[in-house]
Order: sequence, then C-alpha cells, then structure tokens
Amino acid sequence: MSAPSNSFQPDSTDLDRLHSAVKREKADLKPGLEPAPMFAMFLAMIIAVIAGGQLGSMTGDYSFGTSNPFGFSAGKDPRPGGGDGAVVMDPFQTAMKKGASGYAVCGGCHQGTGSGIPGQFPPLAGSEWVTGGTERLIRVVQHGLVGAITVKGQGFNTPGGMMPFGAAMSSGDLANVLTFVRNSWGNEAPMITKEMVDKVRSTEKRASQWTASDLEQYAKANVLGDVPAGPGATTAPAVK
Ligand code: HEC
Repeated sequence: MSAPSNSFQPDSTDLDRLHSAVKREKADLKPGLEPAPMFAMFLAMIIAVIAGGQLGSMTGDYSFGTSNPFGFSAGKDPRPGGGDGAVVMDPFQTAMKKGASGYAVCGGCHQGTGSGIPGQFPPLAGSEWVTGGTERLIRVVQHGLVGAITVKGQGFNTPGGMMPFGAAMSSGDLANVLTFVRNSWGNEAPMITKEMVDKVRSTEKRASQWTASDLEQYAKANVLGDVPAGPGATTAPAVK
C-alpha cells in the first residue's frame, strides 16, 4: 500500500523550515509596552549624570555623617575613624598591631602565649624583666643575655643564652615588639617608643651579651621620654 505520487508528502525538511520561520517571528508588541526609542534612553542617561553631578556639588562636602541615607546613630559614622576613610589608631594601638607581627621573631622560643618552655626559654607573660625597667628590657633584646637568670621565681640558664635578636631590627620595629610583649598575655606597662630605643642605642655600645648581674643596676630604671598613648600615657589622651 503506497501513497499516490502527486499527493502532499510532509517530510522532515519541510517541518524544520516551517518551525524555524515561526521561531524567527517576534511576538507582537503589546500596546504600552513597546521599548522606548534609543534616543529617549540616551537622553535619560545624560539627564541622570548631570543631575547626579549637580546634586553632589550642591550638597557640599559629602560626608557619610551628614548625608547618611540610613539615619542611624544620630549622624555618627559607625566606622572606626569617623568616616574620613582611614581607620585611625592611636600610637599605642598601632605599635601593638605592628609588634604582634614583629613578635614572630621571638615566638619560636618564648611561645605565642608568652609562656616560654620550662627549663629552656623563660616566660615573657608575667615576667618582671618585661614589665620592669625599660633600660633593662631594651638592653636584653638589643645585646642579648647569657648565664643564670631568675624569672617569676624560676631559674633558667640555657646554654648560649639569648642572642641579640633586637640588634637587627629598626628602632621602630624593636619598640613595637617590646610594646607588644609589655601589653600581652595579661602584661600591662607603658609603651616603649622608637625614641627610647634610640636613646639606649646611642649611649650603650656593648658588643657582648649581658649577664643578669650586669643588668641589675637597670632593673627598675626607665628610659625617659614621652609615652604618647596607652597605659601610663604622659602626653595627650588617647584618641577615642
Ligand atoms: C632562640 C630562642 C630565643 C629567641 C628567638 C628569643 N629569645 Fe628571649 N630569651 C631566650 C633565652 C634562652 C633567654 C634566657 C637567657 C638566659 O638564660 O640568660 C631569654 C630571655 C629573654 C628575656 C628576659 C627573661 C624573661 O623571660 O623575661 C626577655 C625579656 C626576652 N628574652 C625577650 C625576647 C624578645 C622580645 C625576643 C624577640 C625579639 C626574644 N626574646 C627572642 C631565648 C630566645
């Protein structure tokens, strides 16, 4: 049973052609929903740009505090530093932050918690060497320390002692690390400034490690100088 040769024979090619023609056809635009003409869109954009610039200059010094669209906390900028774009830290906070990374040099022995290792490396946490006289502390780290010492009532006498790890640091870096150890793990003592480190460096020209008895004279002596912020600040109050 075969179809007559002159009758319509829908084959797949015809169907494809038919369907793609239908697919090419765009849906009729609904009245009112036709896209705006190109020139109208450009015009709107140009107006928006000009208006934005105008608004910016008319509101004067744009500040988050006064132009805060959310209106929280009575115009006070919640960001640290009050919205001038920079996080403002006082000199003590800055020293603590930098000192924390500088402490990596010391942490291998004195440990990240400042606890040291019994019988090997003395603790910095709660150490009278750390929170005591800054004349002594700066000298220990600048020139090194060897021989028997007592820290928090425990004796240490590690062969070779401590090398002058601070000597290779800039005065600022050393000051920051010392400020950090004096104010971490429960320690609290006035910050050590770059100027204080410089003062010791310029007057003390020792080439060998200290011993505990050499340093006894400095146990309670503090390098004179302004303490700009933090515990025991002597100058302007810390920036809030
Ligand atoms: C390689 C190990 C090592 C490193 C690194 C090291 N120390 Fe020490 N530190 C010692 C040893 C050992 C002593 C004890 C020396 C002695 O017995 O005479 C000591 C003693 C001290 C003391 C006096 C005692 C005390 O515990 O308070 C201070 C302060 C100190 N170190 C601070 C530092 C600081 C700050 C750094 C980093 C800049 C540092 N040390 C890096 C091994 C180290």
